[in-house]
Amino acid sequence: MSDELHAEHREGRGQVEATRFWEDHYHRRERVWSGRPNPVLVDVVGGLRPGTALDLGCGEGGDAIWLARQGWRVTAVDVSATALDRAAAGAATAGVADRIDFRQHDLVLAFPPGAFDLVSAQYLHSPIEFPRTRVLQEAASAVTPGGLLLIVDHASVAPGSWAEPEETLAPLDLSPDEWHTERLEARERETTHPNGRLVTHTDNVVAVRRLAR
Ligand SMILES: C[S@@+](CC[C@H](N)C(=O)[O-])C[C@H]1O[C@@H](n2cnc3c(N)ncnc32)[C@H](O)[C@@H]1O
Repeated sequence: MSDELHAEHREGRGQVEATRFWEDHYHRRERVWSGRPNPVLVDVVGGLRPGTALDLGCGEGGDAIWLARQGWRVTAVDVSATALDRAAAGAATAGVADRIDFRQHDLVLAFPPGAFDLVSAQYLHSPIEFPRTRVLQEAASAVTPGGLLLIVDHASVAPGSWAEPEETLAPLDLSPDEWHTERLEARERETTHPNGRLVTHTDNVVAVRRLAR
């Protein structure tokens, strides 16, 4: 998670609801994310046959738009209406608006109905109260037989903290009789800080496939 998010959190916003917190976050800048799809998504999903996809915490829609361009039918949810408006505008510009159903949804309160060939949770972190394990278990339940659950996390979500990919997977308690682990790894990624410096980030990647019955 970015230092900026943590700075906002330290300002005393810890107990506000998700909607208010994230609306505030997106309002601070005209554009928060790059608009490009996340590299692990492109790498893991690029070779798959398109089907239905659920993008959890889709932000400004970079992943959803990329998925739609690959032929997926996407349901993309986020708690922030501002992020979703930007995502919908991006989808219209990209000519894929008809392939994406953007929905405002607080995952703390309810999970979107339906079953999907791909459920993707990319950096679904929140500095305010967020029952991540429960939400990710619900994400697993929403995967069709034969489908894939892809979770990409920041290995470090707070200054001084560190997590291994196993710490994301183990609490989901997925039975090996029903799930095959395709990837469980830490990956490095470089970004350029506004000051021009190259920054190396570590991502934890979990890709588990629900066995076809
Ligand atoms: C760190 S951002 C990642 C955004 C996007 N997936 C990406 O990779 O760029 C986390 C996203 O999750 C959303 N989010 C946080 N809490 C949420 C909740 N309770 N319900 C739905 N979305 C939530 C935020 O609005 C934000 O867009």
